[in-house]
Amino acid sequence: MLILDVLSPLLLLSILLPGYGCRAADIPEDTTSEFSVRLYQRLQAAGGQDNIIFSPLSVAVALGMVELGARGASLEEIRQAVGFSHLLPGVEFSLLQNLTAALLDDDSHYVIRFANSLFLQEGVTFNPEFLHLMKKYFRADVETVDFSKSSAVAEQINKWVENHTDSKIRALLSADDFSSVTRLTLVNAVYFRGSWKNQFRPENTRTFSFSRDDGSEVQTLMMYQQGDFYYGEFSDGSQEAGGVYQVLEMPYEGEDMSMMIVLPRQEVPLASLEPIIKAPLLEEWANNVKRQKVEVYLPRFKVEQKIDLKDTLQELGIKNIFTNNADLSAMTDVEDLYIGKAVQKAYLEVTEEGAEGAVGSGMIALTRTLVLYPQVMADHPFFFIIRNRRTGSILFMGRVMTPEIIDPNDHDFDSM
Ligand SMILES: *[C@@H]1O[C@H](CO)[C@@H](O)[C@H](O)[C@H]1NC(C)=O
Ligand SMILES: *[C@@H]1O[C@H](CO)[C@@H](O)[C@H](O)[C@H]1NC(C)=O
Repeated sequence: MLILDVLSPLLLLSILLPGYGCRAADIPEDTTSEFSVRLYQRLQAAGGQDNIIFSPLSVAVALGMVELGARGASLEEIRQAVGFSHLLPGVEFSLLQNLTAALLDDDSHYVIRFANSLFLQEGVTFNPEFLHLMKKYFRADVETVDFSKSSAVAEQINKWVENHTDSKIRALLSADDFSSVTRLTLVNAVYFRGSWKNQFRPENTRTFSFSRDDGSEVQTLMMYQQGDFYYGEFSDGSQEAGGVYQVLEMPYEGEDMSMMIVLPRQEVPLASLEPIIKAPLLEEWANNVKRQKVEVYLPRFKVEQKIDLKDTLQELGIKNIFTNNADLSAMTDVEDLYIGKAVQKAYLEVTEEGAEGAVGSGMIALTRTLVLYPQVMADHPFFFIIRNRRTGSILFMGRVMTPEIIDPNDHDFDSM
Protein backbone atom coordinates (compact mmCIF):
# COMPACT_ATOMS: atom_id res chain seq x y z
CA MET A 1 0.00 0.00 0.00
CA LEU A 2 1.47 3.27 -1.05
CA ILE A 3 1.00 6.37 0.96
CA LEU A 4 0.80 9.25 -1.40
CA ASP A 5 1.77 12.76 -0.70
CA VAL A 6 -0.51 14.89 -2.76
CA LEU A 7 0.67 18.39 -3.40
CA SER A 8 -1.92 20.93 -4.35
CA PRO A 9 -1.55 22.57 -7.76
CA LEU A 10 -1.13 25.94 -6.11
CA LEU A 11 1.75 24.72 -4.02
CA LEU A 12 3.32 23.11 -7.06
CA LEU A 13 3.15 26.37 -8.91
CA SER A 14 4.90 28.27 -6.16
CA ILE A 15 7.64 25.68 -5.90
CA LEU A 16 8.14 25.92 -9.60
CA LEU A 17 9.06 29.55 -9.93
CA PRO A 18 12.23 29.80 -7.85
CA GLY A 19 13.64 26.83 -9.76
CA TYR A 20 15.25 28.99 -12.38
CA GLY A 21 18.35 31.03 -12.01
CA CYS A 22 20.12 28.82 -9.55
CA ARG A 23 22.56 27.46 -12.09
CA ALA A 24 26.22 28.35 -12.09
CA ALA A 25 26.99 31.07 -14.58
CA ASP A 26 29.17 28.95 -16.84
CA ILE A 27 26.58 26.22 -17.31
CA PRO A 28 24.37 26.80 -20.32
CA GLU A 29 20.67 26.37 -19.83
CA ASP A 30 18.70 24.56 -22.44
CA THR A 31 15.80 26.64 -23.67
CA THR A 32 14.32 24.05 -26.00
CA SER A 33 12.19 22.00 -23.64
CA GLU A 34 8.95 23.55 -24.89
CA PHE A 35 9.92 22.45 -28.39
CA SER A 36 10.80 18.98 -27.08
CA VAL A 37 7.42 18.55 -25.46
CA ARG A 38 5.57 19.78 -28.53
CA LEU A 39 7.45 17.23 -30.62
CA TYR A 40 6.49 14.54 -28.17
CA GLN A 41 2.83 15.52 -28.27
CA ARG A 42 2.91 15.31 -32.08
CA LEU A 43 4.46 11.87 -32.03
CA GLN A 44 2.04 10.78 -29.37
CA ALA A 45 -0.93 11.89 -31.42
CA ALA A 46 0.33 9.83 -34.35
CA GLY A 47 1.70 6.94 -32.35
CA GLY A 48 -1.31 4.80 -31.36
CA GLN A 49 -0.10 2.23 -28.87
CA ASP A 50 3.52 2.25 -29.98
CA ASN A 51 6.65 2.95 -28.03
CA ILE A 52 8.18 6.37 -28.67
CA ILE A 53 11.80 7.40 -28.64
CA PHE A 54 13.40 10.50 -30.05
CA SER A 55 16.18 12.89 -29.21
CA PRO A 56 15.03 16.49 -28.77
CA LEU A 57 18.55 17.80 -28.37
CA SER A 58 19.67 16.06 -31.49
CA VAL A 59 16.78 17.54 -33.47
CA ALA A 60 17.67 20.99 -32.15
CA VAL A 61 21.27 20.50 -33.20
CA ALA A 62 20.28 19.32 -36.65
CA LEU A 63 18.01 22.34 -37.05
CA GLY A 64 20.83 24.55 -35.85
CA MET A 65 22.93 23.21 -38.69
CA VAL A 66 20.25 24.12 -41.19
CA GLU A 67 19.74 27.49 -39.57
CA LEU A 68 23.40 28.30 -40.09
CA GLY A 69 22.74 28.13 -43.79
CA ALA A 70 19.35 29.81 -43.72
CA ARG A 71 18.12 33.36 -44.08
CA GLY A 72 14.81 35.19 -43.98
CA ALA A 73 11.69 33.18 -43.20
CA SER A 74 13.63 29.91 -43.30
CA LEU A 75 15.75 31.15 -40.44
CA GLU A 76 13.00 32.86 -38.46
CA GLU A 77 10.73 29.83 -38.42
CA ILE A 78 13.46 27.70 -36.92
CA ARG A 79 14.30 30.29 -34.27
CA GLN A 80 10.65 30.63 -33.33
CA ALA A 81 9.79 26.95 -33.22
CA VAL A 82 12.86 25.71 -31.39
CA GLY A 83 12.70 28.43 -28.76
CA PHE A 84 15.58 30.73 -29.65
CA SER A 85 13.68 33.89 -30.45
CA HIS A 86 14.51 35.49 -27.08
CA LEU A 87 18.24 35.18 -27.84
CA LEU A 88 20.23 37.69 -29.84
CA PRO A 89 20.61 36.50 -33.43
CA GLY A 90 23.28 33.84 -33.71
CA VAL A 91 23.65 33.19 -29.97
CA GLU A 92 21.78 29.91 -30.38
CA PHE A 93 24.74 28.39 -32.21
CA SER A 94 27.00 29.05 -29.29
CA LEU A 95 24.33 27.69 -26.97
CA LEU A 96 23.95 24.48 -28.96
CA GLN A 97 27.70 24.12 -29.08
CA ASN A 98 27.93 24.49 -25.30
CA LEU A 99 25.05 22.11 -24.64
CA THR A 100 26.63 19.47 -26.83
CA ALA A 101 30.01 20.03 -25.26
CA ALA A 102 28.48 19.60 -21.79
CA LEU A 103 27.38 16.13 -22.87
CA LEU A 104 30.49 15.05 -24.65
CA ASP A 105 32.84 16.35 -21.95
CA ASP A 106 32.29 13.57 -19.56
CA ASP A 107 34.29 10.94 -21.35
CA SER A 108 34.50 8.05 -18.97
CA HIS A 109 31.01 7.59 -17.60
CA TYR A 110 28.90 7.12 -20.66
CA VAL A 111 29.00 7.02 -24.41
CA ILE A 112 27.11 9.48 -26.54
CA ARG A 113 27.41 9.50 -30.29
CA PHE A 114 25.88 12.20 -32.36
CA ALA A 115 25.82 11.71 -36.08
CA ASN A 116 24.67 14.91 -37.64
CA SER A 117 25.43 15.75 -41.19
CA LEU A 118 24.19 17.44 -44.25
CA PHE A 119 24.51 15.46 -47.42
CA LEU A 120 24.55 17.64 -50.48
CA GLN A 121 24.49 16.99 -54.18
CA GLU A 122 27.95 16.69 -55.69
CA GLY A 123 28.98 19.66 -57.71
CA VAL A 124 27.17 22.20 -55.57
CA THR A 125 29.66 24.66 -54.13
CA PHE A 126 29.31 25.68 -50.51
CA ASN A 127 29.91 29.04 -49.07
CA PRO A 128 33.26 28.72 -47.21
CA GLU A 129 31.93 30.73 -44.28
CA PHE A 130 29.11 28.22 -43.85
CA LEU A 131 31.54 25.30 -43.85
CA HIS A 132 33.72 27.10 -41.34
CA LEU A 133 30.80 27.72 -38.99
CA MET A 134 29.57 24.13 -39.33
CA LYS A 135 32.95 22.98 -38.08
CA LYS A 136 33.17 25.60 -35.40
CA TYR A 137 29.78 25.10 -33.80
CA PHE A 138 28.84 21.55 -34.69
CA ARG A 139 32.12 19.88 -35.48
CA ALA A 140 30.19 18.65 -38.50
CA ASP A 141 31.31 18.03 -41.99
CA VAL A 142 29.15 18.45 -44.99
CA GLU A 143 29.27 15.38 -47.17
CA THR A 144 28.56 15.20 -50.85
CA VAL A 145 26.77 12.43 -52.71
CA ASP A 146 25.20 11.89 -56.09
CA PHE A 147 21.49 11.68 -55.41
CA SER A 148 20.71 10.45 -58.91
CA LYS A 149 22.21 7.10 -57.89
CA SER A 150 19.71 6.51 -55.14
CA SER A 151 20.72 3.03 -53.95
CA ALA A 152 24.37 3.96 -53.78
CA VAL A 153 23.50 7.14 -51.86
CA ALA A 154 21.36 5.27 -49.37
CA GLU A 155 24.18 2.83 -48.82
CA GLN A 156 26.78 5.55 -48.42
CA ILE A 157 24.71 7.53 -45.92
CA ASN A 158 23.75 4.42 -43.98
CA LYS A 159 27.39 3.40 -43.71
CA TRP A 160 28.27 6.84 -42.47
CA VAL A 161 25.56 6.73 -39.80
CA GLU A 162 26.46 3.21 -38.77
CA ASN A 163 30.04 4.29 -38.42
CA HIS A 164 29.07 7.16 -36.13
CA THR A 165 26.73 5.25 -33.87
CA ASP A 166 28.77 2.18 -32.94
CA SER A 167 26.72 0.27 -35.51
CA LYS A 168 23.57 0.71 -33.42
CA ILE A 169 21.74 2.56 -36.14
CA ARG A 170 21.59 0.79 -39.43
CA ALA A 171 19.51 1.14 -42.56
CA LEU A 172 18.45 4.69 -41.78
CA LEU A 173 17.51 5.47 -45.36
CA SER A 174 16.52 3.53 -48.42
CA ALA A 175 16.79 4.19 -52.13
CA ASP A 176 13.22 5.43 -52.42
CA ASP A 177 13.99 8.22 -49.96
CA PHE A 178 15.76 9.97 -52.83
CA SER A 179 14.93 11.12 -56.28
CA SER A 180 16.77 12.91 -59.04
CA VAL A 181 15.58 16.26 -57.70
CA THR A 182 16.98 15.69 -54.22
CA ARG A 183 19.71 18.20 -53.50
CA LEU A 184 20.08 18.13 -49.78
CA THR A 185 19.43 15.62 -47.01
CA LEU A 186 19.70 16.23 -43.33
CA VAL A 187 20.79 13.20 -41.37
CA ASN A 188 20.52 13.01 -37.65
CA ALA A 189 21.21 10.04 -35.43
CA VAL A 190 22.13 9.66 -31.81
CA TYR A 191 23.32 6.83 -29.63
CA PHE A 192 23.69 6.75 -25.88
CA ARG A 193 25.00 4.16 -23.52
CA GLY A 194 25.16 4.88 -19.84
CA SER A 195 25.74 2.76 -16.77
CA TRP A 196 23.45 3.19 -13.82
CA LYS A 197 25.02 4.71 -10.79
CA ASN A 198 23.16 2.01 -8.84
CA GLN A 199 23.09 -0.94 -11.10
CA PHE A 200 20.54 -3.73 -11.04
CA ARG A 201 21.79 -7.16 -10.14
CA PRO A 202 20.95 -9.55 -12.95
CA GLU A 203 20.14 -12.31 -10.46
CA ASN A 204 17.25 -10.20 -9.18
CA THR A 205 15.63 -10.01 -12.60
CA ARG A 206 12.48 -12.07 -12.94
CA THR A 207 9.79 -12.86 -15.43
CA PHE A 208 6.91 -10.56 -14.78
CA SER A 209 3.61 -9.64 -16.36
CA PHE A 210 3.38 -6.22 -17.94
CA SER A 211 -0.13 -4.86 -18.51
CA ARG A 212 -0.47 -2.83 -21.65
CA ASP A 213 -2.93 -0.01 -21.96
CA ASP A 214 -5.17 -2.04 -24.27
CA GLY A 215 -5.66 -4.53 -21.42
CA SER A 216 -3.43 -7.24 -22.84
CA GLU A 217 -0.58 -8.75 -20.85
CA VAL A 218 2.90 -9.63 -22.00
CA GLN A 219 5.74 -11.38 -20.21
CA THR A 220 8.84 -9.32 -19.71
CA LEU A 221 12.06 -9.39 -17.73
CA MET A 222 11.59 -7.17 -14.72
CA MET A 223 14.67 -5.78 -13.06
CA TYR A 224 14.60 -5.02 -9.38
CA GLN A 225 16.55 -3.09 -6.83
CA GLN A 226 16.14 -1.18 -3.65
CA GLY A 227 18.34 1.86 -3.62
CA ASP A 228 18.75 5.58 -3.19
CA PHE A 229 17.13 7.53 -5.98
CA TYR A 230 15.33 10.80 -6.49
CA TYR A 231 11.63 10.29 -6.06
CA GLY A 232 8.41 12.23 -5.83
CA GLU A 233 4.66 11.89 -6.07
CA PHE A 234 2.71 14.45 -8.04
CA SER A 235 -0.88 15.21 -8.83
CA ASP A 236 -2.38 16.04 -12.19
CA GLY A 237 -4.51 18.63 -10.41
CA SER A 238 -7.62 16.51 -10.12
CA GLN A 239 -8.85 15.37 -6.75
CA GLU A 240 -9.07 11.75 -7.78
CA ALA A 241 -6.69 9.08 -6.55
CA GLY A 242 -5.96 8.21 -10.16
CA GLY A 243 -4.60 11.70 -10.64
CA VAL A 244 -1.52 10.94 -8.60
CA TYR A 245 1.55 9.66 -10.37
CA GLN A 246 5.12 8.82 -9.46
CA VAL A 247 8.35 10.31 -10.75
CA LEU A 248 11.59 8.45 -10.27
CA GLU A 249 14.94 9.87 -11.30
CA MET A 250 17.73 7.35 -11.66
CA PRO A 251 21.17 8.84 -12.24
CA TYR A 252 23.72 7.32 -14.51
CA GLU A 253 27.25 6.99 -13.31
CA GLY A 254 28.82 10.36 -12.86
CA GLU A 255 25.38 11.80 -11.96
CA ASP A 256 25.42 14.27 -14.85
CA MET A 257 22.88 12.27 -16.78
CA SER A 258 19.76 10.64 -15.45
CA MET A 259 16.66 8.85 -16.57
CA MET A 260 13.41 10.14 -15.25
CA ILE A 261 10.51 7.73 -15.24
CA VAL A 262 6.97 8.99 -14.94
CA LEU A 263 4.49 6.34 -13.98
CA PRO A 264 0.73 6.70 -13.59
CA ARG A 265 -1.10 4.43 -11.20
CA GLN A 266 -1.74 0.90 -12.34
CA GLU A 267 -5.36 1.48 -13.34
CA VAL A 268 -4.65 4.71 -15.20
CA PRO A 269 -3.61 4.55 -18.87
CA LEU A 270 -0.56 6.58 -19.81
CA ALA A 271 -2.68 8.37 -22.41
CA SER A 272 -4.53 10.16 -19.64
CA LEU A 273 -1.28 11.53 -18.21
CA GLU A 274 0.39 12.52 -21.48
CA PRO A 275 -1.70 15.63 -22.18
CA ILE A 276 -0.56 17.32 -18.96
CA ILE A 277 3.13 16.99 -19.86
CA LYS A 278 4.42 20.52 -20.48
CA ALA A 279 7.86 22.07 -20.35
CA PRO A 280 7.41 23.70 -16.91
CA LEU A 281 6.27 20.35 -15.56
CA LEU A 282 9.58 18.75 -16.54
CA GLU A 283 11.34 21.44 -14.55
CA GLU A 284 8.97 20.94 -11.67
CA TRP A 285 9.67 17.22 -11.51
CA ALA A 286 13.40 17.80 -11.62
CA ASN A 287 13.22 20.37 -8.84
CA ASN A 288 10.95 18.43 -6.53
CA VAL A 289 12.12 14.85 -6.51
CA LYS A 290 13.88 14.05 -3.27
CA ARG A 291 16.64 11.66 -2.57
CA GLN A 292 15.37 8.62 -0.71
CA LYS A 293 15.30 4.88 -0.65
CA VAL A 294 12.96 3.42 -3.26
CA GLU A 295 12.06 -0.06 -4.39
CA VAL A 296 12.26 -0.10 -8.15
CA TYR A 297 10.79 -2.61 -10.57
CA LEU A 298 11.73 -1.65 -14.09
CA PRO A 299 11.40 -3.82 -17.18
CA ARG A 300 14.28 -4.25 -19.53
CA PHE A 301 13.48 -2.44 -22.70
CA LYS A 302 14.82 -1.56 -26.06
CA VAL A 303 13.17 1.19 -28.05
CA GLU A 304 13.96 2.26 -31.54
CA GLN A 305 12.10 4.63 -33.78
CA LYS A 306 12.54 6.30 -37.10
CA ILE A 307 10.76 9.60 -37.36
CA ASP A 308 9.97 11.57 -40.44
CA LEU A 309 11.01 14.95 -39.12
CA LYS A 310 9.76 16.67 -42.22
CA ASP A 311 6.13 15.97 -41.38
CA THR A 312 6.56 16.56 -37.69
CA LEU A 313 8.50 19.81 -38.00
CA GLN A 314 6.04 21.22 -40.48
CA GLU A 315 3.32 20.67 -37.92
CA LEU A 316 5.37 22.69 -35.46
CA GLY A 317 5.69 25.60 -37.85
CA ILE A 318 8.98 24.84 -39.58
CA LYS A 319 7.67 24.80 -43.13
CA ASN A 320 9.67 27.13 -45.28
CA ILE A 321 12.87 25.06 -45.50
CA PHE A 322 10.91 22.22 -47.07
CA THR A 323 9.44 24.31 -49.87
CA ASN A 324 10.61 25.89 -53.11
CA ASN A 325 10.67 29.21 -51.28
CA ALA A 326 13.35 28.04 -48.86
CA ASP A 327 16.18 30.49 -48.41
CA LEU A 328 19.35 28.51 -47.75
CA SER A 329 21.49 31.08 -49.46
CA ALA A 330 23.99 31.27 -46.60
CA MET A 331 24.89 27.70 -47.42
CA THR A 332 25.45 28.04 -51.10
CA ASP A 333 24.52 30.39 -53.88
CA VAL A 334 22.40 27.79 -55.61
CA GLU A 335 19.03 29.50 -55.47
CA ASP A 336 16.56 26.66 -55.38
CA LEU A 337 17.99 24.61 -52.54
CA TYR A 338 15.51 23.18 -50.05
CA ILE A 339 15.39 20.26 -47.61
CA GLY A 340 13.86 17.25 -49.28
CA LYS A 341 14.13 14.79 -46.45
CA ALA A 342 14.74 14.91 -42.74
CA VAL A 343 14.68 11.80 -40.63
CA GLN A 344 15.77 10.85 -37.19
CA LYS A 345 16.37 7.39 -35.89
CA ALA A 346 16.92 6.87 -32.22
CA TYR A 347 17.74 3.76 -30.28
CA LEU A 348 17.86 3.13 -26.57
CA GLU A 349 18.46 -0.01 -24.60
CA VAL A 350 17.92 -0.23 -20.89
CA THR A 351 19.37 -3.16 -18.98
CA GLU A 352 20.71 -4.01 -15.56
CA GLU A 353 24.20 -3.22 -16.59
CA GLY A 354 26.63 -1.08 -14.74
CA ALA A 355 30.19 -0.28 -15.67
CA GLU A 356 31.46 -1.67 -12.40
CA GLY A 357 30.37 -4.50 -10.23
CA ALA A 358 28.59 -2.34 -7.73
CA VAL A 359 27.42 -3.95 -4.56
CA GLY A 360 23.65 -4.07 -4.54
CA SER A 361 21.40 -4.22 -1.55
CA GLY A 362 21.31 -7.98 -1.72
CA MET A 363 17.58 -7.96 -1.21
CA ILE A 364 15.61 -10.14 -3.53
CA ALA A 365 12.28 -8.92 -4.77
CA LEU A 366 10.16 -11.87 -3.94
CA THR A 367 8.15 -10.69 -1.02
CA ARG A 368 5.82 -7.79 -1.43
CA THR A 369 4.18 -8.05 1.94
CA LEU A 370 6.47 -5.68 3.78
CA VAL A 371 7.03 -2.47 1.94
CA LEU A 372 9.19 -0.07 3.85
CA TYR A 373 9.96 2.33 1.07
CA PRO A 374 8.02 3.83 -1.79
CA GLN A 375 7.68 1.30 -4.53
CA VAL A 376 7.88 2.14 -8.21
CA MET A 377 6.43 -0.79 -10.08
CA ALA A 378 6.75 -0.12 -13.79
CA ASP A 379 4.61 -3.07 -14.86
CA HIS A 380 2.46 -0.85 -17.08
CA PRO A 381 3.22 1.92 -19.63
CA PHE A 382 5.38 4.85 -18.56
CA PHE A 383 6.92 8.03 -19.91
CA PHE A 384 10.65 8.72 -19.64
CA ILE A 385 13.29 11.29 -20.36
CA ILE A 386 17.06 11.09 -20.28
CA ARG A 387 18.48 14.45 -19.43
CA ASN A 388 21.58 16.29 -18.47
CA ARG A 389 21.01 17.30 -14.86
CA ARG A 390 23.24 20.36 -15.12
CA THR A 391 21.91 21.95 -18.30
CA GLY A 392 18.44 20.43 -18.49
CA SER A 393 19.15 19.23 -22.04
CA ILE A 394 16.91 16.38 -23.02
CA LEU A 395 18.85 13.75 -24.85
CA PHE A 396 15.91 11.38 -25.16
CA MET A 397 12.23 11.53 -24.57
CA GLY A 398 9.80 8.71 -25.05
CA ARG A 399 7.48 6.16 -23.62
CA VAL A 400 7.38 2.43 -23.16
CA MET A 401 4.03 0.92 -24.08
CA THR A 402 5.51 -2.54 -24.61
CA PRO A 403 8.79 -3.60 -23.01
CA GLU A 404 11.04 -6.37 -24.20
CA ILE A 405 8.73 -9.36 -24.59
CA ILE A 406 9.98 -12.78 -23.68
CA ASP A 407 8.67 -16.24 -24.18
CA PRO A 408 8.45 -17.66 -20.65
CA ASN A 409 9.28 -21.15 -21.92
CA ASP A 410 12.42 -19.95 -23.52
CA HIS A 411 14.74 -19.16 -20.63
CA ASP A 412 15.63 -20.30 -17.18
CA PHE A 413 14.38 -17.55 -14.91
CA ASP A 414 11.92 -18.54 -12.25
CA SER A 415 8.51 -17.15 -12.72
CA MET A 416 7.27 -15.03 -9.84
C1 LIG B 1 29.32 29.16 -24.50
O1 LIG B 1 30.53 28.98 -23.77
C2 LIG B 1 31.49 30.00 -24.00
C3 LIG B 1 32.76 29.61 -23.29
O2 LIG B 1 32.50 29.21 -21.98
C4 LIG B 1 30.93 31.35 -23.52
O3 LIG B 1 31.85 32.38 -23.78
C5 LIG B 1 29.63 31.62 -24.26
O4 LIG B 1 29.03 32.81 -23.75
C6 LIG B 1 28.65 30.46 -24.08
N1 LIG B 1 27.48 30.71 -24.91
C7 LIG B 1 26.22 30.67 -24.44
C8 LIG B 1 25.13 31.03 -25.37
O5 LIG B 1 25.96 30.36 -23.31
C1 LIG C 1 34.44 4.93 -40.30
O1 LIG C 1 35.19 5.52 -39.25
C2 LIG C 1 36.58 5.29 -39.33
C3 LIG C 1 37.23 5.85 -38.10
O2 LIG C 1 36.62 7.03 -37.68
C4 LIG C 1 37.12 5.90 -40.62
O3 LIG C 1 38.49 5.65 -40.74
C5 LIG C 1 36.37 5.28 -41.80
O4 LIG C 1 36.78 5.89 -43.00
C6 LIG C 1 34.88 5.46 -41.64
N1 LIG C 1 34.17 4.78 -42.72
C7 LIG C 1 33.12 5.33 -43.33
C8 LIG C 1 32.47 4.50 -44.37
O5 LIG C 1 32.73 6.45 -43.09
